[in-house]
Amino acid sequence: METVETAGSAPAAVIVAIDGPSGTGKSSTSKAVAAQLGLSYLDTGAQYRAITWWMVHNGIELSDPTAIAAVAGKPEIVSGTDPLSPTITVDGTDVAGPIRTTEVTSKVSAVSAVPEVRARITELQRTIAASAEKGIVVEGRDIGTTVLPDADLKIFLTASPEARAARRSGELKGADVAATREALIKRDAADSSRKTSPLAKAGDAVEVDTTELTLQQVIECVVTLVEEKRAGK
Ligand code: DC
Repeated sequence: METVETAGSAPAAVIVAIDGPSGTGKSSTSKAVAAQLGLSYLDTGAQYRAITWWMVHNGIELSDPTAIAAVAGKPEIVSGTDPLSPTITVDGTDVAGPIRTTEVTSKVSAVSAVPEVRARITELQRTIAASAEKGIVVEGRDIGTTVLPDADLKIFLTASPEARAARRSGELKGADVAATREALIKRDAADSSRKTSPLAKAGDAVEVDTTELTLQQVIECVVTLVEEKRAGK
């Protein structure tokens, strides 16, 4: 995607890939950066959660990758990309709430490891990114490595397991930190070790360790990196 700005015209669309494990502040950062810069926003984790919700809802046997692969093309997943009010529907049903349940969270790694699921969702993500006129911030696990390898800017967010668990427990309104830490480490291990497009830092990604940073500091850091990119620095 072109980053060159022609005199007097609006900045060219910029594509920003933000990857990293859970609890690094990826969603909050991505939404805020997109809102601040007038870009679209795509939460790819929500798409994997949505397809997982559909599988659970339809009684698909999730211990059987062949059963998952056979129906991977069935649900119609639509993502609204306004960073101020992102939406997600499956076959017309608003699933923004149901995709955040513990049941979906515990099953999403198994579903998202199936190559047919990844191929389907990856295609959807590329279509959405290509149609974002002003540019887009796409957050996930494999955006910089697989989905959008030509992104203008790639960020990889990290944080210590303790910081990530504490943040997640806060989001889950006081959930037990130790149990959250265990679940999070288990999910990261599954997401990082799967064969098809695992959670990984792209060679040309900028790594930002958020352990000691406030959310506001992370947002400012990423906004600065995007602005520098746009200015051609
Ligand atoms: O970001 P999240 O916790 O909502 O993501 C849920 C799961 O979706 C995560 O455990 C792995 C999977 N995922 C993925 O495989 N690839 C992505 N680009 C985004 C998420």
